[in-house]
Amino acid sequence: MLLQLQNIFKWVNSGGQRIFLLKDINLKVKEGEFISIMGPSGSGKSTFLNVIGMLDGFDEGSYDFLDESVHQLKEKHRAKLYKEYIGFVFQQYHLLDDLTVQENLEMPLLYKKLKGAERKAMVADMLDRFNIVGKKDLFPAQLSGGQQQLVGIARALISSPKLLLADEPTGNLNSKQGEEIMELFKQLNEEGVTIIQVTHSEKNAAYGKRIINLLDGRMI
Ligand SMILES: Nc1ncnc2c1ncn2[C@@H]1O[C@H](COP(=O)(O)OP(=O)(O)O)[C@@H](O)[C@H]1O
Ligand SMILES: [Mg+2]
Repeated sequence: MLLQLQNIFKWVNSGGQRIFLLKDINLKVKEGEFISIMGPSGSGKSTFLNVIGMLDGFDEGSYDFLDESVHQLKEKHRAKLYKEYIGFVFQQYHLLDDLTVQENLEMPLLYKKLKGAERKAMVADMLDRFNIVGKKDLFPAQLSGGQQQLVGIARALISSPKLLLADEPTGNLNSKQGEEIMELFKQLNEEGVTIIQVTHSEKNAAYGKRIINLLDGRMI
């Protein structure tokens, strides 16, 4: 088992009332799975993905990731798990605007005990794999949306994560760019990367081998 969420509830307090963002979520994910999360806007998809990705906490329930109890870990240990095993791709790319493509790719490696030359080699491999060698010295604003998302995905993958999480990764792309990203995910999954993606598109969701539907914070 890669991860297991049990009876997860998440809420915010507003005017003395509890507003539930997630309600009684139960999910087991094995290594090698490819899961698509669907649901209307505001149904809790991003919150769900952020909880899985340890970017958000929760109020009740348990979360085990590779036999570690995430809910009991100190922040520092949780951050370490995240950096070691999880890659996150965002709809808005979240690249650092004042760093070049090459520098953006290098960011996740700065936390690791790697020599400068090793980091450079890993960045060069990624640039090569994603066919963006020619863009390495450009800044994000000089790239198209599709190219920025490729950089976002390359950055998420550079530390060889076990789990790739993607929140509407093709939401800002045209259909051809979107299809390229989905084909890339398919290939990564075939290579063994576990993928959980949030999508609005039935066509993209079909790339997953399991579909989870959310409504008002609940799995239906
Ligand atoms: N920190 C927060 N405080 C209050 N409400 C929130 C917070 N985060 C999300 N929400 C609300 O929770 C619901 C689910 O949000 P979200 O997970 O972003 O949904 P989705 O990604 O499916 O559109 C929305 O109604 C949103 O407004
Ligand atoms: Mg969302």
